[in-house]
Amino acid sequence: MRKTIQAVRGMHDLLPGEAFVARQVEEAAREALEGYGYEEIRLPVVERTELFRRTLGEVTDIVEKEMYTFDDHGESLSLRPEGTAGCVRAAIEHGLCFHQVRRLWYAGPMFRHERPQKGRYRQFHQVGAEVFGLAGPEADAELILLTARLWRRLGLEPERDLVLEVNTLGTPEERAAYRERLVAYLERRRDELDEDSLRRLHSNPLRVLDSKHPAMRPVIEAAPRLLEHLGEASRERFERLCALLDLCGVPHRVNPYLVRGLDYYTHTVFEWVTDRLGAQGTVCAGGRYDGLVAQLGGHDTPAAGFALGVERVAALLRELGRAPAAPLPHAFLAMAGEEAVRVGLAWSEHLREACPWLRLVLGGEGSLRAQLRRADRSGARYALVLGEAEAVQGTVGVKPLREELPQRSWERDALLERLAREGEAAWEGLALP
Ligand code: HAM
Repeated sequence: MRKTIQAVRGMHDLLPGEAFVARQVEEAAREALEGYGYEEIRLPVVERTELFRRTLGEVTDIVEKEMYTFDDHGESLSLRPEGTAGCVRAAIEHGLCFHQVRRLWYAGPMFRHERPQKGRYRQFHQVGAEVFGLAGPEADAELILLTARLWRRLGLEPERDLVLEVNTLGTPEERAAYRERLVAYLERRRDELDEDSLRRLHSNPLRVLDSKHPAMRPVIEAAPRLLEHLGEASRERFERLCALLDLCGVPHRVNPYLVRGLDYYTHTVFEWVTDRLGAQGTVCAGGRYDGLVAQLGGHDTPAAGFALGVERVAALLRELGRAPAAPLPHAFLAMAGEEAVRVGLAWSEHLREACPWLRLVLGGEGSLRAQLRRADRSGARYALVLGEAEAVQGTVGVKPLREELPQRSWERDALLERLAREGEAAWEGLALP
């Protein structure tokens, strides 16, 4: 036998049930986003490597070691590890954010060469949103309110099922001053730093605060806090955001250690986290990035956004027993004999024409018995049975598969007419005498 070929590590097939839940998450997100005036934008999966270097930051984990980068006839290209960089690139390139307020959303696969584990994949899917041209904390609040509405739409209750953490990173100048203070502090406690933190001490010291290493806790807890070293305006801005969230009834927790793993953020950052998914508990994350458009050669434009991980939201729904199931077929048409198959195929098309809502599965090949077994497994509520006799007589047997009721014979035309007239509800009691 030939050796089978399996999927690449960390890149998963979404099987039928899983794909259905993922689509419901994406659909709910689309509805929520459109409700706030976001327009869809479709972006390439591949961009110039330079774009990610310039936006995400040279010394971030993603750019240092997680990108799928390849040479394309002398040009370095990368699979997108996230969507913000490409969205900003497109917005500048097509003048979408020039002196105007623009709300854009996108969905699709992202690629990061991380160590795969539960909830962390090398190909995963995001739905993301970016708003350009609004500078105030009201815009940040709106983004957060949108996500809270989305959770409720999906049957998740903010605070009970997932918690909102917020923080502010201030302006780049404030952060640079703080960074010096933090490095000086960490240098004093150098002996206590773990390997990762030592590596980040000078390249990306703020990320040390994000360390999950238990031995680092006391070091982190005694570290100077960015919030306390911000200027008046930045602090006031953050207080206004928190007050707006209170006003709109969105519970939140200020997490002074929330720094995010990407370099482009300024002021507000936030994450929705859950403890139901183990180590990969962040289902949605975002923040403000006021410097990025100018940094990529566009006009100075304030901007903010977020992205949710579709697999993680779906996993949370499953974990809580709230994942929607795909609707079952209404009926399964079992046909036996050459004439019945011919008549059945033509009739089923009339039926579909008259009832666009119909979920009808054709029995396929094999004996009537085999088809009825398949009908049962399909989850359909009824089997429609078409043998040689029914084919000639213009009838069809309606056999309930989920109730203890006998099969009933219907004129095919009459059944079609009733289903067309009464819609889905017509199935109720179809087998009743
Ligand atoms: P991020 O935090 O890198 O932010 O990713 C956003 C979300 O994508 C995460 O919260 C998580 O749910 C999901 N995610 C990330 N990596 C993986 C992975 N390896 N496997 C499964 N899910 C994953 C961004 O990507 C920013 N672009 C968000 C943003 C938009 N900020 C402003 N605008």
